[in-house]
Amino acid sequence: MKKILVLPGDGIGRDVCDAALPVFDLLQLPVELHFGDIGWECWRRGGDPVPEETWRQIERSDAVLLGAITSKGKLEAEQELIPELQGKGLKYVSPVIQLRQRLELFANVRPARHLTGARKPFHCVVIRENTEGLYAGMDRKGIPASMSDWVRHPNIDRSGPDEAAISVRLQTRFGLERLFRYAFDYARDNGLDRVTFADKPNVLRDSGQFAADIFHAIAAGYPGIGADIQNVDAVALWLVRRPESFGVIVAENMYGDILSDLAAGVMGGLGVAPSANVGNRVCYFEPVHGSAPAMAGKDKANPAAMFLSIALLLRHLGFDEAAARIDAAVSQTIRAGRALTYDLGGNAGTAEMARAILQALRRPQALKRASILCIGDELLNGSVVNSNAAEIGKRLSAAGYAVGLQLSSPDQLPAIRAALDQCLGQSDLVVVNGGLGPTSDDLTRDGVAAALGLPLHFDAGSMAHIEQRLTGFGLAVNPQNRRQAMFPEGAAILPNANGTAPGFALDWQDRRILVLPGPPRECLPMLDASLPPAPARQDAPVRRWLLLGVIEADIADAVETCLRDAGQEAAVSYLWRYPHVEVSIRHDDDGEPAWLDAVETLLRPHLVSRDGASAVSQLASALAGRAWLLDSGITGADLGGLLPAPAAGDADPVRIRIDASRELAPPWQGVLSLSCQIDNGGQRNSYRLDVPHRGAEVADYVREFFAWSLLRSLNEAYSHTESEPA
Ligand code: IPM
Ligand code: MN
Repeated sequence: MKKILVLPGDGIGRDVCDAALPVFDLLQLPVELHFGDIGWECWRRGGDPVPEETWRQIERSDAVLLGAITSKGKLEAEQELIPELQGKGLKYVSPVIQLRQRLELFANVRPARHLTGARKPFHCVVIRENTEGLYAGMDRKGIPASMSDWVRHPNIDRSGPDEAAISVRLQTRFGLERLFRYAFDYARDNGLDRVTFADKPNVLRDSGQFAADIFHAIAAGYPGIGADIQNVDAVALWLVRRPESFGVIVAENMYGDILSDLAAGVMGGLGVAPSANVGNRVCYFEPVHGSAPAMAGKDKANPAAMFLSIALLLRHLGFDEAAARIDAAVSQTIRAGRALTYDLGGNAGTAEMARAILQALRRPQALKRASILCIGDELLNGSVVNSNAAEIGKRLSAAGYAVGLQLSSPDQLPAIRAALDQCLGQSDLVVVNGGLGPTSDDLTRDGVAAALGLPLHFDAGSMAHIEQRLTGFGLAVNPQNRRQAMFPEGAAILPNANGTAPGFALDWQDRRILVLPGPPRECLPMLDASLPPAPARQDAPVRRWLLLGVIEADIADAVETCLRDAGQEAAVSYLWRYPHVEVSIRHDDDGEPAWLDAVETLLRPHLVSRDGASAVSQLASALAGRAWLLDSGITGADLGGLLPAPAAGDADPVRIRIDASRELAPPWQGVLSLSCQIDNGGQRNSYRLDVPHRGAEVADYVREFFAWSLLRSLNEAYSHTESEPA
């Protein structure tokens, strides 16, 4: 049984602990949680933010999970002490610094992983020296006389030694060796092939050379891992522009502090950045974010960084599988984009996002995401309707992919590259379409190769095929056609049975990219032939109701009241497609949802179907083989055309009479009252509906109302109440 000491601390540290700790119950690991005090109140009341009792608890535990801790400036810290403690010369030392120093947590590990968004996937880690450097504690105002022969500067003479301050950046062979060794071990154990030491050797020349020599000596022991030293400012630049080019970035304490916030920003903000403080004894784990007092208790903070910090802690304790499940659940939740806090662009609170992460843990989805990138100026200026986007979207959905993004790009290299980066950032599969022609404005192959950093190679076999096809049609082979036989290195060539340009498929990281020509006759069969199968979808069950005769806003209000009353989580969406409103409710919990009865009772009077089928489309089968007589008091609406040919010789036909309160003609205002009476042998039903007389499209309403009335009269299903999930 492993003992985990939880120190929620201050501010949002408590919020994110409350939200994320249930993950331990869910995972059922052999761990026990203990709780302790740390932070601002301990300082105010006891004069030390880390009380002695907490130190004892830490010593007894296998790992520490920290929420967040408030730190304030020197003066403020003293003023907030209780009166009995004031004036005693107590000094506030940040608890995290105390923990790092006293427990000798020499490495601060801050992974930055791409979670979602408009950039290529990346995985890098800032490993920060955590006990010395500029944080070694040698920071003072006034320069003592004993140092004056070394600490010299013309401005010291101008200000005087008392009006100057110095901070020492301490680096020791002992400290650097263990740090670098840890960094290389980490790279090796986590499949990262590069360790970059971010320093400033072009200015801090002696300390820089000292550290560089140690770095190279340690690197020599890891021949499989690239090792380089870069100026820290350049690392900052490239971390923003190309985070995917880094593996481990190792740095002195202060540089690492700054770079790790930068890396967090690149991955989506402090709300998603976890950290591990590692040494040879008890280690502690915390989100990189602070206590954000202004946000505390407001159900606003993003719990993801806390979940990810728990994953780091569990990995440290050897629970690798549980850690991987948490990582995957956080990614899944962020990619799903539904329950996200404000910092990720959503409107969910801490608790709601945490519940979504826990739910993703319970119900992991092997969902494959796809995006579609169509390339060509003609698609953007409207001269060609982009039917490929719709058609490819349909086929991908049918094959089990969740299509999350469709982009159109002009024939411009930077635009193509940026669009592809965006697709790669959020999809397992990217289907690129168009721009594979022979002319100079066909830039897709160049854009794809450049975005992935791959050279283009000529393929003689494809060229022979192109020549054969052209000469077969009596056409000249142009030097330009050579372009169509160029492919990014490593691409699998996709033959094109109906045109000149072959396509190609690339596997890049764990993504697959299909690049197809633009003409639908060419690309669609190629897509069918090359689409990798997606695993069966395991979406949470969704119930759907296609409704007639309701106003979207009214029904939404009523549905949400039902859900609120039932007090159960469910995601509702509404689609208004004249004349219908479709309500879909996804419920994430297993079993019969508590709101179901109330929602059913509410929607049943307006129900047309549970699978999106209109009444008109269901009519033929409902009336098949029946004899009928239609008597329509509505001019201009061809309702008879909806009905199948009447069966001959039925002595007892269904008699249908439909009327409208006014002509289907302008002025388009006021209300159109529809009524329909059906005599079906012994049974007589009549239906009414008032709809806005809003325009010529009311004819659609009339047809659907007519069909719906007939269905309700003829079809037993409408009088039953039970429901099945769609
Ligand atoms: C961090 C924080 C701390 C640091 C502060 C709170 C002392 O910014 O963990 O990065 O500078 O190390
Ligand atoms: Mn920091």
